Amino acid sequence: MWCVQRGRLAAIAIVLAAMLCGVLGFSRAAFAQHRMHGQQEPENRNHPWMNASLSPDERADMVLKEMTLDEKILLLHGQGMPGWPREVQNPQPELGNGGAGFIMGIPRLGIPFVQMSDAAYGVRSSAENGRYSTALPANVGAAASWDPNAACQYGALIGRELRAQGYNMTLGGGVNLTREPRNGRTFEYMGEDPILAGTLVGNVMKCEQMQRVIGDIKHYAVNDQESGRNEVNSIIGKRAMRESDLLAFEIGVGIADPGAVMCSYNAVNGDFACENKYLLTDVLKKDWAFKGFVVSDWGGTHSTVKASAAGLDNEEPLDEFFGAKLKEAVEAGNVSMAELDEHVRRVLRSEFACGLFDYPIQKSVVDVEGDLKIARKIEEQSAVLLKNADGLLPLNGAAVKSIAVIGPHASEGMMSGGGSAQVDAPGRPSAGWQAQVWFPPSPALTLQKKFPGAKVQFDSGKDPASAAALAKNSDVAIVFAYQWMSEGMDLDNLSLPVNQDGIIEAVAAANPKTIVVLETGTAVTMPWLDKVGAVLEAWYAGSDGAHAVMNILAGDVNPSAKLPMTFPKSVEDLPHPELVKPTPEQMGEKAVMKTGQAEPTFSVHYDEGLKVGYKWYDAENKPVLFPFGYGLSYTTFAYSDLKVTPGAETTVSFTVKNTGSRDGAEIAEVYAALPASADEPPKRLVGFSKVWLKARESKDVSVSVAPKYLSIYDETADGWKLVPGGYTFMVGGSSQELPLHEKVELK
Ligand code: BGC
Repeated sequence: MWCVQRGRLAAIAIVLAAMLCGVLGFSRAAFAQHRMHGQQEPENRNHPWMNASLSPDERADMVLKEMTLDEKILLLHGQGMPGWPREVQNPQPELGNGGAGFIMGIPRLGIPFVQMSDAAYGVRSSAENGRYSTALPANVGAAASWDPNAACQYGALIGRELRAQGYNMTLGGGVNLTREPRNGRTFEYMGEDPILAGTLVGNVMKCEQMQRVIGDIKHYAVNDQESGRNEVNSIIGKRAMRESDLLAFEIGVGIADPGAVMCSYNAVNGDFACENKYLLTDVLKKDWAFKGFVVSDWGGTHSTVKASAAGLDNEEPLDEFFGAKLKEAVEAGNVSMAELDEHVRRVLRSEFACGLFDYPIQKSVVDVEGDLKIARKIEEQSAVLLKNADGLLPLNGAAVKSIAVIGPHASEGMMSGGGSAQVDAPGRPSAGWQAQVWFPPSPALTLQKKFPGAKVQFDSGKDPASAAALAKNSDVAIVFAYQWMSEGMDLDNLSLPVNQDGIIEAVAAANPKTIVVLETGTAVTMPWLDKVGAVLEAWYAGSDGAHAVMNILAGDVNPSAKLPMTFPKSVEDLPHPELVKPTPEQMGEKAVMKTGQAEPTFSVHYDEGLKVGYKWYDAENKPVLFPFGYGLSYTTFAYSDLKVTPGAETTVSFTVKNTGSRDGAEIAEVYAALPASADEPPKRLVGFSKVWLKARESKDVSVSVAPKYLSIYDETADGWKLVPGGYTFMVGGSSQELPLHEKVELK
């Protein structure tokens, strides 16, 4: 894959660029001038469209009228990225900011450069650009907070750090639903439920965009596995797609009003996503009234006329199809000027709407300490306590005299997710594509600081017998276990790698007071679950993850997160026990960008349809390891007084009481079972509320449920429909613990 070569090709790219400049007659001075325009204030700020009291649409129209055909085309493609192979045309990645791509500015018209960076859980490539970025907990962890306010802080932090590092567009915002938990990018997404995922990604992106960067939601759509992602045809029914995968995007787009949506590599029902008229025009632009531009995933553009007509606005990172070929197509009348203008207008509109014209980039220093604190607090809200037998946690600092810290990397740092989402660890060089990156400080060191009165000893677990011996001689054993994931690969299964199951078995057999801290980006199986005392799912915990975890273990923070995805008992229970992978013959050039007649080479049939995640296990009556929405606290909660009031929005009100002696937060979940005639899975999440309660405190909670969340997608009528009949509303603390029920008739 191209990504493997990114680093190696960087040097060649620079040499080629220098040669190309010679050929095109660019001088060094011209280069320098262009670079300045890329990152600083465009020179002419007196144009009538610089009047910020006009609407983004008015301003975009005014600029458009002044543009030549060449200038218009310039806004519709990228100029390459460092390391991207470029045998074609004239990309100039050296004019960028070291990010994944950029759109050229046009100084004559005051149009700024659009500098893009990947920024899933933090800004990418900071080390190689001589900068620093904060890593937040992985996106799946942020989803586990079920907290739109935390999501907003998450996005705002990334937006600020993007700006500080010279970027004005994010490529974050991943929201593909977890249909396939082995998908190597599960950590970049927000779980298996469209309402939870869509609400949270919408809040991340809304607040990120408020920092004056163009927001992005991706990968649109049904890009639910990495195996053969460029070649795969995702086959899925319209109703299933609209009610699950697309609903997450719809909600996210509705909340954030993002400047961009990135179409994905795969095909959906026969057409590549970046030339799929149904997805891009019928649904995104018409039905959802999306006002921004569609940007292709990197190398995900496969044609000129077809892609343009389908609704693709901007090709990245090159100009293979939306450069000279697009100009030719316009001149030959194969793409109308009106269609071309529509693409340009959308790019300009987002630039105006997101503040790129009015607030030129000024690089600055990231607030290291302030942002570390935010990252830690979000992780404290994201780590899910899955088991806590006999109140083993929180650890009593006064009573615990010895702690065994075990795990292959427990003396090194906390795991992070790889691929284009990778954030560089502080003070270390970029690790390169698909390398495991551990963020300091180490759990062992942090634990020793947290429990100064205890003797903390480390064992990697390489020899399980030695780890077990240490555990036996310690009051408690804490095993830091990990599962690494990355873009560009899927997991073979959901088991912990490198014999960590064996290590945990041996340690737990030696000392039942064993606490397992999981650093994973997806569900894992736990054959040792009955034998250990406690399990905390910390996900990829971010830059200050170790401190956040210690605060939970020590009880300074009461855990409050809940699973945004089901943890199954075994991969045998998944809708597709076997991951569908392409054969070697099905991979390669044919399906990628070169031919202009690309076709997918194999298919994945998402025939579980509507039954994504918990809906599958519910419908199939399959017991799970931990259900969707599950998570423990150091206190307990009780639910009472459910009242459901139908109306324009259905109001579900109830009371939650903290029945324990510690302050804490409860995520209250509201589900609905639709009438039998709707032919839906047994229940769906329709709302939630995170409630902060002091010890013994009660609060009345009210959740409004939008009609769409109770509706089905009627394929025949091509629209949403509320099926008249009896709806059972259920409220409680997990998808499988719903003490309150009330049935109402809805018309
Ligand atoms: C990924 C995108 C990413 C882009 C730019 C692609 O391979 O799928 O998520 O934004 O590269 O790095």
